[in-house]
Amino acid sequence: MTMKQAFRKTLALGALALAVSASPLLAQESVATLRSGTPLAENASPPPIAPVKNTDLRQVRNYPEQPPLIPHKIDGYQIDLNANQCLTCHSRTAVEISQAPMVSITHFMSRDNQFLASVTPRRYFCNQCHVPQGVTKDLVENGFVDIDQVLEYVSGQEGN
Ligand code: HEC
Ligand code: HEC
Repeated sequence: MTMKQAFRKTLALGALALAVSASPLLAQESVATLRSGTPLAENASPPPIAPVKNTDLRQVRNYPEQPPLIPHKIDGYQIDLNANQCLTCHSRTAVEISQAPMVSITHFMSRDNQFLASVTPRRYFCNQCHVPQGVTKDLVENGFVDIDQVLEYVSGQEGN
């Protein structure tokens, strides 16, 4: 091997090593994440907080067991050991004045399926399950189809 050939070989090996070490970086950049390309060590400026849908109109549940979305603002409603402001409107006795829907009967059931006199501790922290809907675009695209459409599709297939 001449000097020149040896030099070329070293160059080629160097280029290969570069390509190999750079490729995980390139792959990382092409993965879609909610960070939208912000390097891991940096913080992007956060998007503005979306307003919530405050229509006062009860919304369709996407499936029967879904905790219904809260169709009103809940800013500042206290829920702690001393007070539960949701229940000042949604408790059994409050609905005559508030005209809010009463908490579901399931919210009185203990884990042994016994009905208690008041809302069970398991259902006390309403926001564990119920949330208002933000006025935002979907974070990720999805192909969710309502079960009614699925049933329609199935009965269409059977009709053929
Ligand atoms: C000032 C009274 C009031 C308070 C306080 C209140 N709500 Fe409501 N809520 C209502 C009324 C009235 C409705 C019926 C729709 C409407 O008018 O907004 C409702 C609707 C709902 C619904 C929709 C039910 C359905 O079947 O679609 C949910 C869920 C709900 N509220 C949860 C909560 C939670 C959780 C809190 C506490 C963070 C809360 N609410 C506090 C009055 C209230
Ligand atoms: C562990 C989850 C969970 C918690 C905590 C919870 N809920 Fe629910 N809620 C549900 C689910 C699921 C439904 C729908 C199925 C049902 O009725 O149980 C529902 C239904 C409701 C409904 C509709 C009732 C109806 O008959 O249309 C209201 C109103 C409601 N919840 C209010 C509340 C309030 C107020 C609190 C807090 C005191 C609360 N929920 C806590 C899961 C929860």
